[in-house]
Parts: sequence; C-alpha cells; structure tokens
Amino acid sequence: MNTFELTEKYVLGNYGRFPISFTKGEGCWIEDEDGKRYLDFGSGIAVCSLGHAPECIQKALREQSAELIHCSNLYHIPQQAELAEFIVEKIVKLPGKVFFGNSGAEANDGAVKLARKFFYDRDGNNDRFEVITCRDSFHGRTLGGIAATGQDKVKIGFDPLLPGFHHVPFNDCEALRSAVTENTAAILFEPIQGEGGINIATPEFLQTAAELRQEFGVLIMFDEVQCGFGRTGDWCGWRSISEGIEPDVVTWAKGMAGGFPMGAIWISDRCAGALGPGTHGSTFGGTPLGSAVALSVVREIEDQKLIEKIPALETKIRDRVSQWNFDQISGIRGQGLMLGFTLNQKAFENAEPSASNFLVKELMKEGLLTVPAGPGVVRWLPPLNVSEMEIEKALELTETVLTRLSS
Ligand SMILES: Cc1ncc(COP(=O)(O)O)c(C=O)c1O
Repeated sequence: MNTFELTEKYVLGNYGRFPISFTKGEGCWIEDEDGKRYLDFGSGIAVCSLGHAPECIQKALREQSAELIHCSNLYHIPQQAELAEFIVEKIVKLPGKVFFGNSGAEANDGAVKLARKFFYDRDGNNDRFEVITCRDSFHGRTLGGIAATGQDKVKIGFDPLLPGFHHVPFNDCEALRSAVTENTAAILFEPIQGEGGINIATPEFLQTAAELRQEFGVLIMFDEVQCGFGRTGDWCGWRSISEGIEPDVVTWAKGMAGGFPMGAIWISDRCAGALGPGTHGSTFGGTPLGSAVALSVVREIEDQKLIEKIPALETKIRDRVSQWNFDQISGIRGQGLMLGFTLNQKAFENAEPSASNFLVKELMKEGLLTVPAGPGVVRWLPPLNVSEMEIEKALELTETVLTRLSS
C-alpha cells in the first residue's frame, strides 16, 4: 500500500488532507515522495520558523540527545531555566515566570486555569471564572480550546462545553466593554488572528482591554501561538501593534521550537504565584531536548538578526502586490511574515470547497505551498529566514497562477 492508502486505512480521518506526502526538506524548500520540490510558504502552519532541517536544530538535537533527552520536572533542568530566562528577559521583557508544555491548546488551557486560580486565591471563591474571547478566534482543540474558540464549527457535537466563555466581535471595543461583568476573570485574544483570516487587533481594542484591566482587574491574556516568536517583525505580536500594553499572560507554541513540539505560558509576576507546587504540570514540558532545541531557535533568530530583516521583506511583498491587477485578489493584510491575501470570492464562483482551498491547490500545482485561513483568505507564513530571492520566486509563482486563472 502507498502512503495515501495506509493513511486511509489506519490513520484517523480527522484531518482534511491534500493528496501529497513530503519526505524531506531544506530551508524554504520541501520535496514530495516523487521528488517534486515546492517552495514552502506555509512552514507547517507557522511552525518551521527557520525552515526545514536547519543546521542549528540538527546540532542541538545531536548534541543534547547524546547528553540527556528527558528528565522529569521533579528536578531542575538547566536548558529549561535558560530558555525561560531568554523568554522573560529578551522576548516579553517584563517580570514574570514561564511554564512549558507541548502545544498551543495546552498552553491556552493552562492560561484559563491560571485566571481562575488567581481569583480563587484572591477572593476565596470561584465566582470570577469567566473568560471573554473573540469571534473568529482559534484557541485549540482540547475541551478548553474549543470552548474558548469563537467559531461554531469547532464546537458542534461536543456539548456540554466548558462553561464560562463569551465571544465578542473582534475589535469591537464597545462589545468588549459590555461583556465584562463581576464574573469576568480574563480577556483572551490573538493579537493577530490566524485561522480566523489574518485579522489584526486595532490599537484601540488593545487599549480598551488595558482600560478594563485598570477598572475591573481582569487579566489580559494574549494567544501568540501563531503570531509570536518573531513572526510579525517583533518578538511579540502585540508589540507590533501597540508598544505600551503589558499583558498578564502570553501563550505560545508553533514556531517557538522550529518544529519540535513545545508550548509555553508566560505569566506576569503579579499572577504567577497562583500556580504553585501541585497546581499544574505536564510530563513532557520543557525537557532538556525540547528546551535545547528552542534555545537553538531563539539564539539563531537573535544572532542572524532575522526579526530586524522582516519589515523589508514585508514591504517587498506589499509593494509588488499593490501593483497587481488580478480579479481574484482584493488585497493583502497582516503583519511581518504573517500575511493574508484576501480573495474576491465572486472570481471563484465554482471553487470547491472554498475559494481559499481552490487557490491553495492551484498554487500547490505550480510548486508553492500556502495555507487557507477561512474560506476567503490565503496565508503566507514563510520561514523567518526566507530570502529575498525566495520571496521573488513565490511572487512569480503566484502571478503565474493568477494569470492562468484569469485567462
Ligand atoms: C492562535 C492559536 N492558538 C492555539 C492553537 C492551537 O495550537 P495547537 O494545535 O498546538 O494545540 C492554534 C493552532 O493553530 C492557533 O493558531
């Protein structure tokens, strides 16, 4: 049986997969089972932040696996402690503590636990347990994640959901204000929504959240699982929108270890005491191997000054797209290397199952990997070390496809 047949027979059918199977990759390029090469501007949905098989990750894996792969959190782990220091001092740059887990959903679940426990410790009861999130958000697939997510499609069939989540329209400051009650523990949102279609929070929305913290003491929690760790041209997605906001909690996963499974929560010193010994944990959180890999990634991003180079790459893309005159594309939005092409759905009349899915498949045929973000947006999430030449190539491939579709 070939890979497709094996998958069909033995692997759970929970993913809608494209009929393609990759066997190796290098940098921005990835190769399928038949040896066809693709320019990968999806990066495993914002995961492979340094592209495929980067030398620094290979080295960290080789060297650390020869020393110590796993060690329980019953003990101190030097690589974990160093990584936490990097995150606090160089990424968030605010006093706090870091918890390590394995995924974005796990990080968000932990953030919700923290919010509840913080107020339980303070008030002696769990009256303040509600969390406000945004419509079109995506926070993961665990029971906590789907309850937090502001999209009905992830919730269908899974009732009863974890109670206490309210969704407000993204960037609607008035709705956010009205949603806060005496039971609200936290406001959780993605500074830049990924799955929801590359929607950027406005500075006013961030400011409103800050005011609500001031007035009601609610916690501000940013889900930076997709937009964090440099992707937006800043270590922190929210700082590329507004400098002055200081969150209480930030969650990450995806790109933080360049493809090694890792998630994390940063918690401000004001709140971190709520998760004391015995309150939370994760067997594989912050292992020597995972932490060494993540350290190699953040050091490479720092040493190569990759974040500083992102604005010029974004400008190159935007300048070129602004000259396009294709019926199918109505615009481009996003920040840094988290960009979404908005599609003019009328130009994709018979596209199944959606305009974005159709265009992603057409680009794939031409040798460019991209990712749908909802039915009407196609995402570019190239590695942070993508070269200008690779961007040029991706633009050319996209132009070729759009020209073909126009004729
Ligand atoms: C913003 C955001 N939060 C949370 C998640 C869930 O992360 P994971 O799949 O690692 O659980 C995702 C995944 O796409 C995401 O984009």
